[in-house]
Order: sequence, then C-alpha cells, then structure tokens
Amino acid sequence: MPEEELLLSVLRTQKGYISGRTLAQETGISKNGVSKRIRLLRQYGYCIESNPKMGYRLSGETDLPLPWELAKVLDTLVIGKDKIIYRHTAESTQNLAISLAENDPNSDGAVIIAEQQTSGRGRVNRNWLSPKGGIWLSVILRPIVSASKITLLPFAAALAICDSIKKATRLNPKLRWPNDIMIEGKKVAGILIDISMEGERINYAVVGIGINVNVDSSAISSNLERHIKVTSLSDELGHKMSILGLTKEILERLEYYHVQLKDDAPHTIIEQWKRSSDIFNRKVEVIHNDWTIEGVVVDLNNDGSLLVRTDLCNNIKVVESDVRVRY
Ligand code: BTN
Repeated sequence: MPEEELLLSVLRTQKGYISGRTLAQETGISKNGVSKRIRLLRQYGYCIESNPKMGYRLSGETDLPLPWELAKVLDTLVIGKDKIIYRHTAESTQNLAISLAENDPNSDGAVIIAEQQTSGRGRVNRNWLSPKGGIWLSVILRPIVSASKITLLPFAAALAICDSIKKATRLNPKLRWPNDIMIEGKKVAGILIDISMEGERINYAVVGIGINVNVDSSAISSNLERHIKVTSLSDELGHKMSILGLTKEILERLEYYHVQLKDDAPHTIIEQWKRSSDIFNRKVEVIHNDWTIEGVVVDLNNDGSLLVRTDLCNNIKVVESDVRVRY
C-alpha cells in the first residue's frame, strides 16, 4: 500500500484530530515523512486540517482519479486492474503509455492518468491543451483484436465516452466521424490511438482519451481546427462534475466495448456508433490536400470508412487517413 494511502486509512478511522506522532507510530512513517505526505495529500485534493496542539484531521475527500481511489470503485477485469499510474503533471500520458507498452509485456490494461499535460498530443499532429480539470488518460490494450478489426477501436472508444457522459449527465452527446464526441455541435472529447504492429500481428494499442470536464472552454479553444467549436462538460452543465466518477465509467465502458470488438462481428460496434451519431444525411465537405468534394453522408461501412454521395451523384468511400470531413 502506498504511504499516502496508509496515512489516509488511519486518518479515516478518526472522527477528530490525530497527532503527528500517533500517525507516525501507526503507519511506521517518520514524523517528517508524515508532514511531507500530508502536504502531498492536500495537493491531491484531500482536505486535511492541522492544529498545532491536536494534529491532523481529514475533513474532505478528493475527486481526483488517484490510483487507490479509482481501484476502490472500478469494476473491471483487465483495464486498471494491475496498474494505474497517476502523474500530477506529464508531458503526455500517451507517450508514457507507449514507453511502458514497449518495455513491459505485462502491461495489458495499464492506465496512465495525468492531472495536466504540458505537451498533450491530438490527432494529425495537433497539440492538445490539457489544463487541470480534464480527464487526460491513456490505456494500454494487449493482446487485442485482429488487424482487420483494429480500425474499429476508435469507434469502440468513442462509444465508451458517449455512453459514460450520457450516464453521468443529462447531456446528449453525439459522435462525429471518425472519433470526436460533440455536444450541441461543439467538441467535448477526442480520442488518439497509437498502434504497434508487426506484419498482421498487433503488439499493443494505446487508447488516448481527452475529455474537457471541468475546464473553461476559452482556455482550450486553440486545440482544434478553426471551424470546430469547443466546449466542456462544466460549461454545458453550468456546474462542475465528478472526475473520479466519470473516469470509472469510461474505463468500465471501454472494457465492455473492447470485449465486444474482440468477440462480436464488426457490424455490432458500427451499428451502435451509427445510432449515437448525427452525421447521416448531413452535408459534408471532403477535403484532401488541395481538392474539396461536397456531398451527403449516406452510410458508415463495417470497416469504419464513410460512404458519401457526392453532388455528382456517385458514392465515394472516405477513409480517415486520407481526408478531413467538415460539417
Ligand atoms: C484529438 O485530437 O481529438 C485527440 C485528442 C486526444 C488527447 C488525449 S489526452 C490523453 C492522451 N495523451 C495525449 O497526449 N493525448 C491523448
């Protein structure tokens, strides 16, 4: 048990104050170590009052998805089961997860979470601004699905986020192709997937999830292409919401859809994605380097590509890596 968790367990047994000396005796941590860890716990969001004569008293819990708090509530078999790594600040949880996956073959299900990122990565080499108040995490999945199904992993992850937001709020998120989560036409969450493959064999996939939870939209608007507006859950709701609770939901739903992706036919994920999207029958612009084609979205194929009927009335198949779709 980490020493912070040990201290918390003793603090929680007390209704009133407990002296630093008793805390040190009961945890086996030195007195200096106790005050150092109390400072750390306060940084982690716990309210710990101190009184020079009486010692310390825990008067409020944290809402951060700290490994020991998440482990208490998480109901999964693989994701977050063996390893949850938490950083107050990380350059990018995605990069941390990739180096863990490269170096540790037993990292299936490992979750890396940061309270803030200094060099968060978005899709197509964009920056992803990640101040405090968001959910910024990456999950390592291995061994995963066949190479032919891996293109559906972003759709599965988007469904997991969409379900979780619906369950935790009264909001009605919609999926935007290929893997953005939108509320009232504004982007609230995004997914970045990095895959390591050798031939047809998949070594691992890292699913990076960024959700604007309790952040001010104006602080993150430069995350995106100019034509996409951005929002956060707190801006939509008018109040803050639980980061710990939403993180639990997301990891549980991600495991659920990952199992579905492994075990069921591809159209299972695709059909559910279609039901959660409002892209169909919408006018879109398909942009590829220096050409743009206008059309209407008619379907999503089982491989995750989009079927667009162009203004010239022919159907084109749109694959994510080729183009941008604007609507
Ligand atoms: C997008 O461009 O829509 C995808 C954004 C993904 C951001 C997340 S935040 C956690 C993880 N770490 C990163 O550096 N990026 C992803």
